[in-house]
Amino acid sequence: MRADPLGFVTALHGSYGDVSCHRTPSETVYLLGRPDLARWVLKDNGANYTKKGTPDDHMLRPLLGNGLLTSSGAEWAAQRRMCAPAFRPSKVRTFDTVITDATAAMLFRWAPAIASGEPLAVDHQLTSLTLGILVQAILGVDVDGFGQGFGRAVDAVNAFIGHFTDQDSARRADAAAGLLTFTRAKAFLDMVTDTLIAARRGNGSGTHQHDLLGAMMSQGHDISDSELREQVLTLIMAGHETTAKALTWTFYLLDRHPDEQDLVVAEIDRVLGGRPPTAGDIASLPVCQRVIKESMRLYPPIWLISRRAISPDVIDGYPVAPGTLVCLSQWVMHRDERYWPDPERFQPERFAAPERIPSHAYLPFGGGERVCLGQHFAMVEAVLALVAVLQRVRLRLPAGYRVQPEALVTLRPRTGMPMTAVPR
Ligand code: HEM
Repeated sequence: MRADPLGFVTALHGSYGDVSCHRTPSETVYLLGRPDLARWVLKDNGANYTKKGTPDDHMLRPLLGNGLLTSSGAEWAAQRRMCAPAFRPSKVRTFDTVITDATAAMLFRWAPAIASGEPLAVDHQLTSLTLGILVQAILGVDVDGFGQGFGRAVDAVNAFIGHFTDQDSARRADAAAGLLTFTRAKAFLDMVTDTLIAARRGNGSGTHQHDLLGAMMSQGHDISDSELREQVLTLIMAGHETTAKALTWTFYLLDRHPDEQDLVVAEIDRVLGGRPPTAGDIASLPVCQRVIKESMRLYPPIWLISRRAISPDVIDGYPVAPGTLVCLSQWVMHRDERYWPDPERFQPERFAAPERIPSHAYLPFGGGERVCLGQHFAMVEAVLALVAVLQRVRLRLPAGYRVQPEALVTLRPRTGMPMTAVPR
C-alpha cells in the first residue's frame, strides 16, 4: 500500500472482487468496489460510518483542528449548517470575476515563458492560482499582499501532510526539521487568519462583507475566533490543491487528445467570441464541463475515501465489526468497465448522458451528507479557469515526457507537469 497505493487497491479489487478485507498490523480494512455498496456506507447507512479516527483524520487534525473536514456528529452538523449557505450555487457564482481576474493575472505572468517557449511548472502555477482565488473568495484579501509568505506556508504544510506517516517520523532523520518547518508554517497561517478575523470583529464589518468569511460570520453568531480560524484553514486546504489537480490533469489529457481539445476550443470561441467568461456562460459550455468531469473520472483528485464502522454491520453478506476501516477508491470505481465502457479511454462524451451513469459510480466529490461542500465552487472555478487559459494558449507537454500519477493526499503527477504555453 505504501509503495504503490494505486496498484495495491487495483489489485485488491481485481483479485478479490467488490468486498475485500486485509489486515495491517493495527487494522482490519475493507475495500468496497460497487456503487450500491458505496451508497450504503456514504448515504443509506452513513450514520454508522464516521470519519473519526480514520487515517485522514489523524493526518489532517494536527493542522486543521476540528473543522468541517475532520469533525463528526453534532459538531459537524452545526458547522455544515453554518458554512453551507456560503457555498450555494447562487453565492458561488458571484466569484466569477475573482476567478477570471486571477487567471488573467497568471497569464500575464506567463508572458515571458510564452515568448521564450520555456516550459512552465503547470501544476505549481495552478496551485498558486487556486490558492489565490480561494483566499480572495474566503477572506477577501489578495494573497500576494503577503509576499510569497502565505503560499510558502501552505506549500510547507502540504508537503508535511502529504508525506507524513507515523513510521516515517520515527525513522527519518529529517523528521524533526520537517516538524519545525510545519509548526512555523502553521503558526504563520494561524496568525494571518486570526488577524483578518480580529479586524472584522474589531470594526464590526464581519458580516457585511461579500466574501465567504462574511457569509459564515453572519450564520455562526456565537462561533469563537479559533473555531472560525479552523474553518477558514480547512476550506483553504480542502479547496485549493484539489481544484488545482483537477485542472492540471485536464490540461494534460487535452494535450494527449488534440481532437477533444479542438472541440473545447471551438465551443469556447463560438460561445464567447473572445470576451472573458462569466458564471452565466457556464451552462452554454457543456463540452468544457464534460472534459473536466471526464478528467476527474480518470484522475480523481481525491482517490480514496475512508470511514470507520461505529456499530456492527453487514455489507454484501460480510460481517463488519465495529472499528473496521471501510474504504472506497475512486481510482478503482472510476475505471471499472462494468460502469465505464473502455474505461482507460478519455471520452468526455460519456457525460453527455449523465442518466446512464449509475448512482454512486462517479464520486469525485464523495457522496451522502458529507459530500464535498465546495463542489459547485470547484466546478465554476475549473470551467472558468480552463476557458480563460484556452482563450489565450494551448499547453503542450515536452515530447517524450512521461507522466505518472502519485497518490498522496491528492492524486498528482509524480514528477510535476512541465508544459509549454503556445499562443493561439
Ligand atoms: C475539484 C476539486 C475538489 C474535489 C475533487 C473535492 C473532493 C472532495 C471529496 C471527495 C470530499 C469527501 C471526502 C470524504 O467523504 O471523506 C470532499 C469534502 C470536502 N470538501 Fe472538497 N473537493 C474539491 C474542492 C473543494 C473546494 C473548492 C472546497 C471549499 C472551498 C472544498 C471543501 C470541502 C469540505 C469542507 C469538505 C468536507 C465536507 C464535510 O465533511 O461536510 N472542496 N471534497
